[in-house]
Amino acid sequence: MDTSRSDSNKTDDILVSSRSFAEYVAFFDLDAQALPARILDCSAGASSFVAEAHARGTDAVAVDPVYALAPEALADRAKAGVPSGNSMIDANSDRFVFDWYQTPQRRAEIRRAALVTFQEHHHTYPDRYIAAALPELPFANAAFDLALCSHLLFTWATQLDEQWHLAALVELCRVAEEVRVFPLVLQGTGEPVEFLSNLRTRLHNECGITTEVVAVPYEFQVGARHMLMLHG
Ligand SMILES: C[S@@+](CC[C@H](N)C(=O)[O-])C[C@H]1O[C@@H](n2cnc3c(N)ncnc32)[C@H](O)[C@@H]1O
Repeated sequence: MDTSRSDSNKTDDILVSSRSFAEYVAFFDLDAQALPARILDCSAGASSFVAEAHARGTDAVAVDPVYALAPEALADRAKAGVPSGNSMIDANSDRFVFDWYQTPQRRAEIRRAALVTFQEHHHTYPDRYIAAALPELPFANAAFDLALCSHLLFTWATQLDEQWHLAALVELCRVAEEVRVFPLVLQGTGEPVEFLSNLRTRLHNECGITTEVVAVPYEFQVGARHMLMLHG
């Protein structure tokens, strides 16, 4: 099976955002009091999940190609993510609900606070932030109990095709016992990803990976209330 990345896939213009631990707990329906011992946040960007999970005693590690940048350039990319994200939401305002965040201001405050937490942790524990990119990760088989992927897979399916997703999910299932991906809709428009069903069939038939679409206690993009849970 050829799961290599196709030339049409492009990730340079993908936003670097800073979601919080509380958001991740909701996206992935995690029990914050009983986190697995070894967790990978893949495509972690400037999220504070690893910082806060590490503070709770887990062996949490983040992966993102932006960690190859110098700290100042990384800070600039991460800071730019907050207003860019707000503009995208303003342009598609009928596609979002604020039940979870309550107000746009509170959402922006959560993002800014998460960015500060990320920057402090990244500075103090640089070894926990690994510069690497799907579909190839620099970890041993089953190195993690759980891998989380927030807002890369499916979210950016207009840039990253079905073959890339197949390779990325196979790789995540190689390095982690369980993989959770949220959300399952396109960035901005919230449209469903057309190849999701075929991809799940291929994961099962070609790779022996089981997948389940699971409801989560979070909605921001209208209808985006599910994660994909995978076991290799
Ligand atoms: C929208 S941000 C999400 C960040 C974080 N997970 C969150 O929810 O706040 C998407 C991230 O995916 C990263 N990314 C882009 N291409 C990637 C790849 N091939 N492998 C892993 N991460 C990638 C980007 O650098 C960016 O930080």
